[in-house]
Amino acid sequence: MNFADSEVVGAILQKGGYDLCTTLEEADFVLINTCAIRDNAEQRVRHRVRELRAEQGRRRQLRIGILGCMAERLQSQLMAEEDNVSLVCGPDAYRRLPELLQQVRHASTGSRDRAAAVELSTTETYDDIEPVRLGSNGISAYISIMRGCQNYCAYCVVPYTRGRERSRDPQTVVDEARSLFDRGYREVTLLGQNVNSYKWVVGSGECVVGFPELMDRVAAIDPGLRVRFATSHPKDLSDELLRVMAAHGNICRCIHLPVQSGSNRMLKLMNRKYTVEWYLDRVEAIRRFLPDCSITTDVIAGFSGETEEDHQATLDLFRRVRYDYAYMFKYSLREGTYAARHLADDIADGEKTRRLNEIIALQGQIALENNRQEVGREYEVLVEGESHRSKERLFGRNSQNKVLVFDRGDAVPGTYRRVRVNDCTAATLLGELV
Ligand code: 5AD
Ligand code: SF4
Repeated sequence: MNFADSEVVGAILQKGGYDLCTTLEEADFVLINTCAIRDNAEQRVRHRVRELRAEQGRRRQLRIGILGCMAERLQSQLMAEEDNVSLVCGPDAYRRLPELLQQVRHASTGSRDRAAAVELSTTETYDDIEPVRLGSNGISAYISIMRGCQNYCAYCVVPYTRGRERSRDPQTVVDEARSLFDRGYREVTLLGQNVNSYKWVVGSGECVVGFPELMDRVAAIDPGLRVRFATSHPKDLSDELLRVMAAHGNICRCIHLPVQSGSNRMLKLMNRKYTVEWYLDRVEAIRRFLPDCSITTDVIAGFSGETEEDHQATLDLFRRVRYDYAYMFKYSLREGTYAARHLADDIADGEKTRRLNEIIALQGQIALENNRQEVGREYEVLVEGESHRSKERLFGRNSQNKVLVFDRGDAVPGTYRRVRVNDCTAATLLGELV
């Protein structure tokens, strides 16, 4: 999501007369787009800001700005704590960046003049802005279809940093996807905090376009354009969406379905609004509609009051679902959330780490076993580029979003090729062109 936001920021700045550059040495202004979801994400940004101080020592005119969720969360406190930061700008205020930059730039050298814009919006979707594709491979791109979240999971800061949920006009989404396809892109990922609650409403309030309908329209652009999406909240994953996915071969067979915990007691405390039984029913529906679909997840270890039994329930759920990939985190208390206000952060850090490591070890084993079953199968792969390890090999992804590495042969990035899997690691399938 932040990556997609940076591309919107790039477009706004270009339109405002600024040039984008790729190295620190060329830059007069460094804008850091930030995440506030866990403390370690914030600490990395703090570290980077302090590193940049050295460069500012060499070049007094160099300015630093902080964008995104951390700017929203900390606002002027951030500038008070990091005195080399001249600008903070929250995720709904990016249109004001050219003006803010101007303000800071024209401040006399060494002055304390700074600029901040952190107002949240109920309507901003940046839907008229064609993002600049930063560091793009020219093959796959993100399209943000909605902003904000109001699910208020007890641990999560996003509703506070990204504001109310709002969806973008479906026509602008389709137009952006078509324009990408016409320029040679072959894969788009539709992004939202909870894409299943995408809703474009006109006039009196009846729902005109929901997420399944939007997917249907984007997938209809061309069978050669792959469509992915993230993220699905399990409470809203409908059969209707699965039906639309099954009807289009170019909608990728991959669903990211964050579970967070395998214990009903924890799910209730987390305010996730589903039970383990509901979640497993959704997994079963995915397998029924899309037998070859991969499923990935997010999980949190050591949330408030998590017992050994709750933790074991998470491990059990992992054994049952057998995810293809998981993003696994230790619980990190975020100020302002329901959990920070009402629930104790009472699992010792060492214990959180132990539980997290158990989940990681189990998931690593499952991913390897899943991948071993792929040996001998053939997939249509969208070739993306050279493998990091060897120029002689290319890599791409199959519909399930698994990375395949194979000998280059006559394959060309940006095209589809059939690849047979003949070996694997836990993270990668190794194969050959068919
Ligand atoms: N601590 C740890 N993980 C968190 N996530 C969100 N908030 C927190 C938190 N306070 C995780 C969830 C979510 C993913 C994007 O980040 O698993 O799905
Ligand atoms: Fe955070 Fe929950 Fe919204 Fe996801 S659905 S962004 S975890 S509040």
